[in-house]
Amino acid sequence: MLKTYLEAAVEIAQEAGKILREENERPPTISYKGDFDLVTQADRRSEALIVSRLQKYFPEHAVAAEEGTGKDTDSEYRWHVDPLDGTTNFAHHYPCFCVSMALAGNKELLLGVIYNPIYNELFTAARGEGALFNGRKIQCSKVDAVRNSLLCTGFPNHNREANPNFHFYWDFTLRSHGVRRDGSAALDLAYVAMGRFDSFWEFGLNPWDTAAGVVLVEEAGGKITDMQGQPYTLGGPSILASNGLIHDEMVRVVAEVSSHTISQ
Ligand code: IPD
Ligand code: CA
Ligand code: CA
Repeated sequence: MLKTYLEAAVEIAQEAGKILREENERPPTISYKGDFDLVTQADRRSEALIVSRLQKYFPEHAVAAEEGTGKDTDSEYRWHVDPLDGTTNFAHHYPCFCVSMALAGNKELLLGVIYNPIYNELFTAARGEGALFNGRKIQCSKVDAVRNSLLCTGFPNHNREANPNFHFYWDFTLRSHGVRRDGSAALDLAYVAMGRFDSFWEFGLNPWDTAAGVVLVEEAGGKITDMQGQPYTLGGPSILASNGLIHDEMVRVVAEVSSHTISQ
């Protein structure tokens, strides 16, 4: 059954990706959900396709989709859908955006699909079956020290002043090969799964941003917790993903930086 769900998710994500490619050829139609929180016609068209297709294939499943058009019921199965992760990038034709879909059964994440339609990069994972990049098995990196790592983080589009991440961004920049800010949490997590990044963290993400990436990282041998090293809950205040080998060191640095910023 998991295979059927995964195949359906891949088919739908690739079709939604076609819409994003098509929309990317035109000037974007931008409106604002908040001061810097953009939404475009591409987000809406992609979500309409995904929601209608999921409802057709799995009418009994709940669908939690970012733009609010899904039907969130109390079904044991729930799809977490980000129809366009990286909207700000999309709005500037910066080709780092994707479709992200995950399925949970009884609140356990079962599968994740992330698709960048511009580079035609497809990341898939099913619980217990490993993670794939364009059909080939992937593993997290083998880097075992932060000083040799390439890291990634993100900053939210809302409540920007209240976000503590600048402190962590600054500190980890000095301790590592560098910290990227690529603007798509789902792709950031997929890149941890395939070893392009050794770790990723962010505050204030929603379930649709992280659900698929969490399955990918775990199935690629990596580790997911919150920034304190405690179990991660979908939609929780923070997420820390890594290749597993530098996880404890990342958590130690977070604790150190937090103690400095609190005592300031
Ligand atoms: C955003 C992206 C970004 C992250 C933001 C998210 P959206 O999602 O994932 O990388 O830093 O916090 O809101 O709005 O482009 O779907
Ligand atoms: Ca998102
Ligand atoms: Ca989105």
